[in-house]
Amino acid sequence: MTVNGETVREAVEARLSLADFLRDRLRLTATHLGCEMGACGACLVLLDGKPVHACLTLAAQADGEVVETLEGLNERGAIADLQAAFHDRNALQCGYCTPGMIITAHALLAAKRTPDRAEIRDALSGNYCRCTGYEAIVDAIEATAAQRIGEAAE
Ligand code: FES
Ligand code: FES
Repeated sequence: MTVNGETVREAVEARLSLADFLRDRLRLTATHLGCEMGACGACLVLLDGKPVHACLTLAAQADGEVVETLEGLNERGAIADLQAAFHDRNALQCGYCTPGMIITAHALLAAKRTPDRAEIRDALSGNYCRCTGYEAIVDAIEATAAQRIGEAAE
């Protein structure tokens, strides 16, 4: 598979999850594990550009596919504005949910340039945060969308 632009060749047990593969074999620990049952969104990664739960995806299912984690998005500068907006608005406390939140926000803004608050909340419905109350997270995503529209118009 390709992970964050690099070709990775490994033999894995059939039952190894993509999340454990990324975290334990490749040391890509921005992919967090919360519920390990597809409910919390902490483990989201991009598989061929679409968010998937790495806890429910087998590493073997990513054979030949393109995987991107938060580290990859960060390295290529794709989420710098989202990260700054989360930081500026205190849209995180413990930060455990934040990688998944950013992956969801990145995918949402790639699919729709100006989502309204209801659409942002709907997109985040699979991402659990125990700390923030969500308001600041929605603010950060809304502000990033507005900033990107402004930059595109310049
Ligand atoms: S750890 Fe995968 S959805 Fe919670
Ligand atoms: S910031 Fe703690 S779980 Fe979201």
